[in-house]
Amino acid sequence: MPRVAYVNGRYLPLRDAAVNVEDRGYQFADGVYEVCEVKGGRLIDERRHMARLDRSLAQLRIRAPMTRTALGVVMRETVRLSRIDEGIIYLQVTRGVARRDHGFPSAEVAPSVVVTAHAIDPARRAKRAEEGVAVITLPDNRWDRVDIKTVALLPNVLARQAAIDAGAYEAWFVDDDGFVTEGSATNAWIVTGEGTLVTRAADRGILRGISRGVVMEAGAAQRVRFEERRFSVAEALAAREAFLTAATALVLPVVTIDGNRLGDGKPGPVTRALRGQYYDHAETAPIRSSPEDGTK
Ligand code: PDD
Repeated sequence: MPRVAYVNGRYLPLRDAAVNVEDRGYQFADGVYEVCEVKGGRLIDERRHMARLDRSLAQLRIRAPMTRTALGVVMRETVRLSRIDEGIIYLQVTRGVARRDHGFPSAEVAPSVVVTAHAIDPARRAKRAEEGVAVITLPDNRWDRVDIKTVALLPNVLARQAAIDAGAYEAWFVDDDGFVTEGSATNAWIVTGEGTLVTRAADRGILRGISRGVVMEAGAAQRVRFEERRFSVAEALAAREAFLTAATALVLPVVTIDGNRLGDGKPGPVTRALRGQYYDHAETAPIRSSPEDGTK
């Protein structure tokens, strides 16, 4: 079986999977999404991702397409049919299909659900973590509700491409006061000269990353001093270490910012330790969910 996509109730070979041209996700970016890591064929941190999905849906007044348990079954089945061992699962829910009109469609219009999965080469990811990555900085030109994980990602797309064009892995957005908000698809962290772990508070200026929460727990378990506050680009440049977090990257060391080397230009010990202990704090879901597993 080739890679499989779930589209509104059906599992289809990816090449045959399609949504209606009047889907509001396609026409208005009127939808939300989640990206969850798959490791050893299992979903990582499913419960936390589903909780964030529920919040995103509620914030945009999109109704939940099915129960969390049913969504869990769909995600697992997509992973299984696509034979993904190491990779990610992508889940998108939009406000559904209706004649193009900016206002919400009638309440009978069902939300659309698409789930896809793809493999990530663990060796490539490990090499990146071993070497560290480069980031560039750019003005944050996004709307003020980036705490909602919407599919409206044009500024993020342009920022990531600017990074790629500059030979970097990620772009860090910087607010009007010169403080780093987050990356185009990752949260941003530094370790100060005193060894304090710093990341921006998850107010409306950033997405509350699930891996961000896992790293906060890992840091607390290692008794690393921690401050949830803003940091400037200048502070990041003077930091001992910096790194990124996301379901797609886990904990990825940053070794240059705008072409300036951080410290000795190598991934630092705090970042390595947090990466090393990541799975002690992430939740690994069972391969099969049962309706009695406590999720609703
Ligand atoms: N992005 N900030 C932004 C803007 C993101 O898009 C993401 C995730 C994160 C990290 O969140 P988490 O730790 O829950 O993955 C932070 C996903 C991976 C993506 O768009 O592909």
